[in-house]
Order: sequence, then C-alpha cells, then structure tokens
Amino acid sequence: MAAPPDRPRPRLLLLNASLAGDAGNTAVLLARARRLLARSSTVDVLTLAGNSASFAELRPRLSAAHGFLIGTGTHWDSWSSVLQEFLEDATPAEGTALWLGKPAACVVSEHSTGGKGVLSRLQGVLVTLGCILPPMSGLVLSRAAVLAARHTPDPAAARDFWCTDDLRIVCHNLTQAARIGISGTTARAPRWRAWPVDRTDFAARWLDAAG
Ligand SMILES: Cc1cc2nc3c(=O)[nH]c(=O)nc-3n(C[C@H](O)[C@H](O)[C@H](O)COP(=O)(O)O)c2cc1C
Repeated sequence: MAAPPDRPRPRLLLLNASLAGDAGNTAVLLARARRLLARSSTVDVLTLAGNSASFAELRPRLSAAHGFLIGTGTHWDSWSSVLQEFLEDATPAEGTALWLGKPAACVVSEHSTGGKGVLSRLQGVLVTLGCILPPMSGLVLSRAAVLAARHTPDPAAARDFWCTDDLRIVCHNLTQAARIGISGTTARAPRWRAWPVDRTDFAARWLDAAG
C-alpha cells in the first residue's frame, strides 16, 4: 500500500560505525532503532567495520538516503577509528547534495564518560558536512546509566538518565525531519516529540556528606 501523501515513507540509512561492527553494543541500539524506523521508513543498514568498500562504492547508498542515523561507541573520549576514517574519506562530499539538508541523528554508546562530548562534536561535524539536526535526535547510552536504572532502590532518581526507550524519540524525530526533505510530497508540518525531562528535581542536591 502506498504511503499517504502527507506521510511519505523516507529512505533512511543506519550507519553502524562501531569498532565492533555487528557484534557491538552500538549494533544492539541500531537493531532496536531499525525496528522502530521500519514502521514508517525504508531502512538500509551499512556497517563500516570489516567493510572494504571505498567511499566511492558506498556513495550511492548514502546518496539514496533522505536521512541518517549514525552509531558509534566512545573510544578514549572520541568516536571510533572507523568513523574517523569514514569522515575523512567523506570530506570531498562536504556541502554536496549527498549531505545537504538531510537530517542526521546519532546514537553513542559508552561505559561511563566522554560520550556526550563525542555526540556534540559529531553533531558539529555533520552540520558542517551539510546535514541538519532534528530536535532531540542525539542520544548517549552509558553502561553506568543502564546499571543505575537496573539496580537503584530509587527508580525516580534514574529517570532523567538517557535510556534505550529514548530511541523512540530519536527515531520519531528523524522520520519527521526526513519527510520534509522528500521532494514532490505534501508532507504535513513535523510533529516533534520530546523524551521525558526532569523539570522539578534537576537542581536537587544528590551528594551527602557520607558520599
Ligand atoms: C579502546 C576502548 C576505549 C574506550 N574508551 C571509553 C571512554 O573513553 N569512555 C567510556 O565511557 N567508554 C569507553 N569505552 C567503552 C566503549 O565506549 C563501550 O563499551 C561502547 O559501548 C563500545 O561500543 P561498541 O560495542 O559498539 O564498539 C572504550 C572501549 C574501548 C574498547
């Protein structure tokens, strides 16, 4: 059945830039994202680790996409070396139709720290290449937050941490943004969503003298 004209079906590329490829933590996040996105988009998945294709060979798949979801782990406060290599190889395409105006969402996994810096810098690079950032489209999932949510005696205290459920918002907002870029359609105004935000307790003191 054809997609309704006000809700066109975008083509999205999931770029798995994890060092561990399909066996990594990032791959688990991207597999979940793929299931969410497949409801309203046509999804292609490209795993960089172990992929010997040149940028020129990958280019048609990137060009065909209306938007991107990029996943990486955190490695010494940086993104993976495979992502760095990819970005270096992509440099000649900076500011071209391959990127220009296409929305890019990012998921970063980490053990405990550094991932937000990776996310912010990666978003900066993507905008420089020519992409746009949908609202609430960047997520850092840390092992520390997963453990805290699983084991805390005070679940409310962990509610403000990023969690895998927030992927729903990332995927929803990416799809909304990608629809805008499909030419020849009458996509309706995007309906952005926000993940849960702590608006009451964010300034609370959480450290006591006993540590
Ligand atoms: C070489 C190396 C360096 C890492 N550096 C960091 C780091 O700086 N901060 C952090 O929180 N986690 C760090 N980690 C943990 C990874 O970011 C984490 O396990 C992530 O989920 C890996 O993603 P992947 O399984 O998709 O490769 C490091 C892991 C490796 C192997």
